[in-house]
Amino acid sequence: MIFELTEEQQMIRDAARDFAQNELKSGVIERDEHQKFPTEQIRKLGELGFLGMMVDPKYNGAGLDTVSYVLVMEELSKIDASASVVVSVNNSLVCDGLEKYGTEEQKEKYLKPLAAGEIIGAFCLSEPEAGSDATSQRTVAEDKGDHYLLNGTKNWITNGGTASTYLVIAQTHPEKGHRGINALIVEKGMDGFTVGPKENKLGIRGSDTHSLLFSDVRVPKENRIGEDGFGFKFAMKTLEGGRIGIAAQALGIASGAFELAVNYARERQTFGKPIAQHQAIQFKLADMATQIEAARLLCLKAAWLKDRGEPYAQAASMAKLYASEVAMKATVEAVQIHGGYGYVKEYHVERLMRDAKITQIYEGTSEIQRMVISREILKD
Ligand code: CAA
Ligand code: FAD
Repeated sequence: MIFELTEEQQMIRDAARDFAQNELKSGVIERDEHQKFPTEQIRKLGELGFLGMMVDPKYNGAGLDTVSYVLVMEELSKIDASASVVVSVNNSLVCDGLEKYGTEEQKEKYLKPLAAGEIIGAFCLSEPEAGSDATSQRTVAEDKGDHYLLNGTKNWITNGGTASTYLVIAQTHPEKGHRGINALIVEKGMDGFTVGPKENKLGIRGSDTHSLLFSDVRVPKENRIGEDGFGFKFAMKTLEGGRIGIAAQALGIASGAFELAVNYARERQTFGKPIAQHQAIQFKLADMATQIEAARLLCLKAAWLKDRGEPYAQAASMAKLYASEVAMKATVEAVQIHGGYGYVKEYHVERLMRDAKITQIYEGTSEIQRMVISREILKD
């Protein structure tokens, strides 16, 4: 068993670390405060190849492995989880899904600009009444021969306002249940497609979350991904990879908070010595470090399985379940270690604590990850 990163993986991790320090850090508090999307930073991440990291270079991707993707997600998320969720959605929910299941025409038209970071994508599964219970889709894609007529509402869509290309899951044959669902590529600007108001959120406030409304939107048949009725499996398969991205985001939030806590504990003096010399603080740091390392290993294991072409659904869910819980615990402890300073914005840890919570909710709540894991266990 080799735990060493290749030289290339180390280089990519260092590039992401530099980018986070030099490009993301300075404006992160202001973007959080004003719910400002990191437009310029995302453009630069696209130029660096971080928006189509695992896509084949023939479709404008960087052709890297999933382990590198985890490393990049961790580094970006240490500083700005609002920027990193854009990276996660574009890479693993949009580009990966299109590359695996799209036609050559769809890859030429949509994947190439998405992987190059020229445009951004969104993945639209959740609805006002269909979140965890994702098979109960109310959005309808009626088969009209050469096109689908799309009607319904999607909720909570990341990149909802900034995206140009949307992968929309909708029901075509209600009598077939989840086997009647399709995945359609919808373009911003199609008649009848409206972006709802931006959500005012607890965390990842720089990211752009909207509801989407579809009213008699004509989507050409050639925009369907896969065979008729493949849409639910498309969503589930694609989310397997997405959960690795969010697990790595949670890992980054936790390790960002940990680094801040260690630095602060070394500097802050009470009772005549740095608080790092009080055993109560040392034990907190020890627990945080241990849990973060365990989360990192779960993330890397899931990525490694994916890179080897082995089944990884259970590993991805374990990584997301554990890393998101570590993110919550570590950020709460980081605020505690900072005392009153942890409660104000300049010290960053309160933001990381608010950002951590979403990792237990999106791309399948912790309860849903436990369902996926236990089903895999009991399957055998
Ligand atoms: N791969 C392939 N097929 C799968 C699959 C997988 N990983 N998981 C399920 N399926 C198939 C099943 O085999 C079954 O098909 P057949 O009947 O043909 O065999 C079908 O899907 C239905 O499966 P279940 O009976 O297991 O379905 P269920 O209703 O019990 O739900 C679930 C399963 C895992 C709970 C699923 O509904 C789920 O994942 N819910 C959470 C939704 C979610 O994660 N949403 C995230 C939205 S995106 C997002 O959040 C992005 C972001 O924030 C940034
Ligand atoms: P519900 O499904 O109503 O769940 C409510 C509670 O009940 C949860 O605690 C849940 O775990 C629990 N629960 C539900 N069923 C069970 C069960 N069977 N057993 C035990 N507990 C259960 N969706 C997208 O499609 N695309 C996106 O880009 C996207 N981005 C998002 C960004 C943000 C900021 C947010 C908040 C959400 C985003 N989502 C997105 C939606 C997200 O995936 C859903 O919110 C999530 O899947 C949960 O669905 P729900 O909110 O409807 O909660």
